[in-house]
Amino acid sequence: MRNIYSNIFKVNNKNLSKAINLLKKKDLVGVPTETVYGLAGNAYSDIAVKKIYKFKKRPNKNPLIIHYHDIKSLKNDVELNDSFYKLYKAFSPGPITFVLNKKKNSKISKSSTAKLKTVAVRIPRNQTIRRILKVLKFPLAIPSANKSTRVSPVTAEDVASEFGNSLKMILKGKRSAIGLESTVVDLTSKIKILRPGFINQNDISRILKKRIKFSASNNKIKAPGMLKRHYSPGIPIKLNQKSSKKNQAFIVFGKKYKKAKNIFNLSIKEDINEAARNLYKTLRMIKNKKYKIIYVSKIPTHGVGLAINDRLSRASK
Ligand code: TXA
Ligand code: MG
Repeated sequence: MRNIYSNIFKVNNKNLSKAINLLKKKDLVGVPTETVYGLAGNAYSDIAVKKIYKFKKRPNKNPLIIHYHDIKSLKNDVELNDSFYKLYKAFSPGPITFVLNKKKNSKISKSSTAKLKTVAVRIPRNQTIRRILKVLKFPLAIPSANKSTRVSPVTAEDVASEFGNSLKMILKGKRSAIGLESTVVDLTSKIKILRPGFINQNDISRILKKRIKFSASNNKIKAPGMLKRHYSPGIPIKLNQKSSKKNQAFIVFGKKYKKAKNIFNLSIKEDINEAARNLYKTLRMIKNKKYKIIYVSKIPTHGVGLAINDRLSRASK
């Protein structure tokens, strides 16, 4: 299939240099990560960060996640603590974001942190974004590369369908291996999970040797992005349904469902990780097929299942 977008570039040395140069010039680049595709800009530049908010139509009270290559560069901007070191050792580079206190002399653009004294930081695992971060002298602010409140992209084509050719460059890496945004864990006071993800409550509790809670209710200021409608394909979604009519898209999980045009199975073999990987792709596909409503069967809550249910419930608001 030929690309209709002229701004999608495959990953090679020449295109990586081009991406690096754009970022140095405070421009934005669509990039792959293991969780979802992101919209990257220089986190030390007000100009670049403001472009991100404008592109995404993102309210400026919703702070960005700052991405680093390694712990050495991270140390310049945030105060590290014991819990951080333990979780970092267990899960980074990877799909986990830490909320930490910002250092007074941090160079992070104030526009990216919604005036908070804390910063969300992540060291991603995807090799393409790591190759870019490695050569840059600044970290990257990388929100998911979708218009605010919409479904996150998991391929370069998804990014292009959000922004068209208005972005100068989208790097076409692999489809995101995890398919859901990183787990966000607040380490600044009583430790809590602000956004569930592939790394779950049990994983974090096991490493810290204490029970850690997912707290959606009292994170009013902590994660503004978590409160309102989010991850929405733009059509109504009804959860926990047993069946559907032919003209309704039906998202299901497991062997017991028949094959039909309107039935979208997240994982026939009942693999919860496969279901996570397929979720956003499926929501986007259903939207493109012009369905007017989406029904969803019960989806298990083990492993990354909690995160799947969290995203679906926010998408249904
Ligand atoms: O997997 C990911 O994290 C992706 C990829 C591209 O790295 N990025 C991503 O960014 O999901 P974004 O901007 O779509 O989501 C950032 C989330 C929001 O819910 C935001 O409110 C929260 O992180 N956040 C950012 N800074 C925060 C802070 N200081 N305190 C609490 N939450 C924060
Ligand atoms: Mg997002």
